[in-house]
Amino acid sequence: GRRVALLGTGIALPDRILTNDELSRMVDTSDAWIQERTGIRVRHIAEPGQLTSDLAAEAAERALSAAGIPAESIDMILVGTNSPDTLFPGVGPKVQGKIGAPKAGACDVQAGCTGSIYALSMAVTGIASGIWNHVLVIGAEVLSPLLDWEDRNTCVLFGDGAGAVILGPAPEGTRGFISADLRAEGEFHDLITLPAGMAQRPASLETVAGREHYVQMKGNDVFKFVNRKLPAFLKDFLEKSDLKASEVANWIFHQANLRIIDGVLRRLDVDPAKAYVDLDHLGNTSAASVFIALHEAVEEKVLGRGDLVVMTSFGAGMTYGAIAFEL
Ligand code: ACO
Repeated sequence: GRRVALLGTGIALPDRILTNDELSRMVDTSDAWIQERTGIRVRHIAEPGQLTSDLAAEAAERALSAAGIPAESIDMILVGTNSPDTLFPGVGPKVQGKIGAPKAGACDVQAGCTGSIYALSMAVTGIASGIWNHVLVIGAEVLSPLLDWEDRNTCVLFGDGAGAVILGPAPEGTRGFISADLRAEGEFHDLITLPAGMAQRPASLETVAGREHYVQMKGNDVFKFVNRKLPAFLKDFLEKSDLKASEVANWIFHQANLRIIDGVLRRLDVDPAKAYVDLDHLGNTSAASVFIALHEAVEEKVLGRGDLVVMTSFGAGMTYGAIAFEL
């Protein structure tokens, strides 16, 4: 197949910033606890009425102009999200309409926080095989309306935001996509859920009273799951990809918890300073986090042309995955 490269990135963040101190006036928590246990200081939160499709379209427009590609040239739009404006239609078709991409198909990829990496891999496959030429891949979330602002176990962790990347045939001299591996372990499906509102738990007075329309997470079980699975998975991923850890210029991890990023890299004998971190000011933006981090790392020249980057994520499902590019 053809070589496939990242041609441009863009992000969108809501203006409103929510601090740990503000949170400590809403639930029984503290700035010290949140910083120590997660690394998060502040996060962006959408205004009422500001939707995932709004942030997604804004990030998309910026990625298109960074890549110098008109919306008319986009053949497919794939959106990794866990907080679509509505269950259906998806965010993808709404973005297609907003940015005016007349030739593009569009859909969402729902795979927890790993959705954007799943979507990226699908985009690569479609371009390499010749089905598509240019694909817009977005990770976007407005999870804040789906959070229980009385539950300190979850509400302190997440932030809203969107990141977009344009993928296309690699320019001369660019290696681009190297390899990807995507996994799911459905026996752990109950670790992160939004329990009610669908067939399994249709909306009722009971589900509302039980706060079942909000995200629920067994945080410590997720923490242990990721620390158990990810180091061996990434070691195996590098080996299969014929890459050495020392060749990776920077690691773009899902920005859930600083202790997870540090712990996993230590187990790989990699200096944690090799991982780009923005969760301190963004929190966990779920499926958006790897694309936002990639964009910021490129903006800050932590990553540049020719650099080897590994993006890796994990989330509800449980899903996890990794994808490697030479930029
Ligand atoms: N403020 C103060 N105390 C708190 C808070 C808070 N916000 N939240 C929990 N605690 C308390 C707990 O109640 C518990 O108290 P106890 O000892 O009296 O029972 C204590 O702190 C320790 O709780 P743990 O859950 O064991 O703390 P842990 O060190 O595991 O940190 C955290 C919790 C930050 C949630 C961590 O487990 C984590 O980051 N897990 C991973 C979550 C994640 O990465 N999710 C990503 C996927 S998200 C997606 O796909 C949408």
